Amino acid sequence: MSSLKAISVKEAGELKGTIEIQGSKNTVLPVMAATLLTSGISVIYNCPMIEDVQVMCRLLECLHVKTSLAEHTLTIDTREASYEPLPYSLTKRLRSSVLLLGSMLARWHKAELGMPGGCAIGLRPIDIHLEGLVKMNVDVNLHKEILSCETYYLQGCEYHLRFPSVGATENLLMAAVGAKGRTILRGAAKEPEIIELCNYLVSMGALIEGIGTDVLIIKGTKELVSSDYHNVYDRIVAGTYLLMAAAVPSDIKMTGIEDIHYLKNIIQTASKLGVNVIKFDRYLSIQSLGKVAAGDFETGIYPEFPTDLQPVLMTVLAKAVQDSSVTETVFENRFAIVKELEKLNARIQVKEQKALIKGNIKLQGHTVKATDLRQGAALVVAGLISKGYTTITDISYIERGYEDIVRDLHCLGVDIAYV
Ligand code: UD1
Repeated sequence: MSSLKAISVKEAGELKGTIEIQGSKNTVLPVMAATLLTSGISVIYNCPMIEDVQVMCRLLECLHVKTSLAEHTLTIDTREASYEPLPYSLTKRLRSSVLLLGSMLARWHKAELGMPGGCAIGLRPIDIHLEGLVKMNVDVNLHKEILSCETYYLQGCEYHLRFPSVGATENLLMAAVGAKGRTILRGAAKEPEIIELCNYLVSMGALIEGIGTDVLIIKGTKELVSSDYHNVYDRIVAGTYLLMAAAVPSDIKMTGIEDIHYLKNIIQTASKLGVNVIKFDRYLSIQSLGKVAAGDFETGIYPEFPTDLQPVLMTVLAKAVQDSSVTETVFENRFAIVKELEKLNARIQVKEQKALIKGNIKLQGHTVKATDLRQGAALVVAGLISKGYTTITDISYIERGYEDIVRDLHCLGVDIAYV
């Protein structure tokens, strides 16, 4: 993926203003896949207007589903949905295309798709998804990047995920609601996105116990009905701006956050860095002096600090008063930010899964390249603390998940523009 568009951003003296947090990308994508489980019309409110949602709409349209997205309201009509294989030209653009496996198998007992693509942040295998499906009586074949799955009927089973993969848990949940009998998923992911998907499936009539724990018990049912969904805020976008506030003197009002429960650990980390967060009725008040406290941090599965914010955290730590470290425990190759930050004068040493970040470094504006969604957003944050102007190229990666990062930072008084 590449875009001719770039973003130019000037070093910011302060961040002051109000910022509205968009709806969650990682919640809406599985919910969109789940609409296939019923025949009817579903409306999703607070849907982010981002590239990944557009691609998921195109994928659903391949299955003769009607979609319409306007003003953050997505309508999905699955009444005339019918089976088709999903082309590689689309699935390679979206890792979450794999989430259609579970719901296609539940609806048509078969699914064929080009191997999913997405951000290059590691190997990103789908062996756990497939192993679970095999346990549910699915025949799986992979031939020349085309994945074909077929089942006579989905059979409920007991399956222990060897790692609490978010995507695999989502896929297996959707297959399990359409399976015969009871499925027990042990070692399931507990991320907010899983809780939201479970609640959505329950609103369709699914029977799920253990929501929010690592043991999910799903009783298959044929009685599902279409349901609407009010999407939650995007905790990673909110987290990007919370961490960003550590590095620049800030006085920010953040709206669109109904409940801070899903943000707890991110707020804790931002506080350690020097950000003061107060929850008011309708907004969060975020203040900082822009002096970043150093520390040793580690990413982890929820409720630990999310891997998606690791590049932003690394960026901000380049400004810390002392040296810091960040250990990545979820993905095996998520340090693409390092090479670009070094172009800005950062000094970071990576030893296996641990990055040692030299503190007290004055970053210098330069041209840097987005190579994945979160790394790209982190480079925009880097521009805010780099002397002069920084240009970020290949910003289509950022557009996959951020509605309009330029608009958001404009609202905080930043000198930033598309070029
Ligand atoms: C989701 C999120 C992504 C986030 C990630 C971890 C969406 C659309 N994306 O991605 O933003 O960074 O969770 O919180 O929700 N793994 C396997 N085999 C599998 C599946 C995963 O080994 O079959 C490994 C992966 O390589 C990775 C780890 O498990 O090292 C986590 O992956 P997973 O939780 O599946 O991430 P995604 O669902 O792809």
